Amino acid sequence: MCFKLAVACPSILPEANHRREKIGVSSSGVHVYLYGMQNPVISVEHLFKSYRKVRAVLDLNFEVFPRTCVAFLGPNGAGKTTTMKMLYGKAAPDGNPKTKITVFGTDPRRDELSIKAIAGVAPQEENLDLELNVVQNLRIFANFYRMRGRAATARIEELLRFMELSEKRTARVRELSGGMKRRLIIARALLNRPRLLILDEPTTGLDPQVRRLIWEKLHNLMKTEGVTILLTTHYMEEAYQLADNIVIMDKGRKVIEGEPRRLLSDNIEKYVLELLDPSLQARVEHNGNLNGCRKDGDAQRVLYYSEDLQSLERLSAEIKQRDYIIRESNLEDLFLQTTGRRLNELQ
Ligand SMILES: Nc1ncnc2c1ncn2[C@@H]1O[C@H](COP(=O)(O)OP(=O)(O)O)[C@@H](O)[C@H]1O
Ligand SMILES: [Mg+2]
Repeated sequence: MCFKLAVACPSILPEANHRREKIGVSSSGVHVYLYGMQNPVISVEHLFKSYRKVRAVLDLNFEVFPRTCVAFLGPNGAGKTTTMKMLYGKAAPDGNPKTKITVFGTDPRRDELSIKAIAGVAPQEENLDLELNVVQNLRIFANFYRMRGRAATARIEELLRFMELSEKRTARVRELSGGMKRRLIIARALLNRPRLLILDEPTTGLDPQVRRLIWEKLHNLMKTEGVTILLTTHYMEEAYQLADNIVIMDKGRKVIEGEPRRLLSDNIEKYVLELLDPSLQARVEHNGNLNGCRKDGDAQRVLYYSEDLQSLERLSAEIKQRDYIIRESNLEDLFLQTTGRRLNELQ
């Protein structure tokens, strides 16, 4: 999020309801504030959702600021899809009096239609019409938005170009690759120029090349058209590359949240030694001496963390190079540290 500095001079103060933080008083006695440029466009407080005995979302709180990308990162079953559905009115939250949801000033529990007009949604499941061709799939949705005639055709052609699908305009959806179908679903979500794009697992199952292409397109939308993006993923790389803010979820709860680089720098040691063969632990640990490093992992994987690269190099001195990797810590390591489990573990 961006901030700007302002002194307490009424003529240049941002609107009174902007978030501000006092950061000091200047030598001439003027109060200096740090102002958030904008208010959140999505604000969620105490969100709960149960399906009979399954508690899918448990007391979730978060905010999304305009023109930013927020990624919900978590393993299968964490409650990501359920959270998205409650934001665009497809699922009803539990009736908890403390729950507050605002999406561009509207409560999706009361006004699903207004949210549909503002938001484009690419759901997790592929809900395209397989027997129709690419353009026909888009036309059906254009009709929903009351886009007709030349305006609809022009927008469809523009989106096909943007998503690099123009050559496939008359291909039946059944004949498209997985990556093309995902791109078509995103194009469809963009038809009515939404201010908010909700993408549930936009690149799951796609190869790295297509995944990168989609990341590039989403990044462009945010920077050039000012679209706010909310996405879910279980790929830490996707969250790291795209998001201004990451909400890590597990078992319906928010585990930790923050700007990707700061999440790592504030919460986990910079480097990790990953032992590829756990039976080598004794050789690494020199009679239980971990050189000040922190040990984590499970029966299949042993990891040693440290701020200091040399400490890890000393630990690895007596094992062969093919038996370990030393690398920078990532979001997967943070997830392991905070939940004791792996991000892509099957539940
Ligand atoms: N329609 C439903 N009926 C019953 N249980 C559901 C339904 N949708 C989701 N769940 C359950 O809620 C939990 C969270 O699911 P979901 O939000 O889909 O997680 P994620 O998207 O993070 O994989 C899971 O335990 C899932 O089985
Ligand atoms: Mg999901």
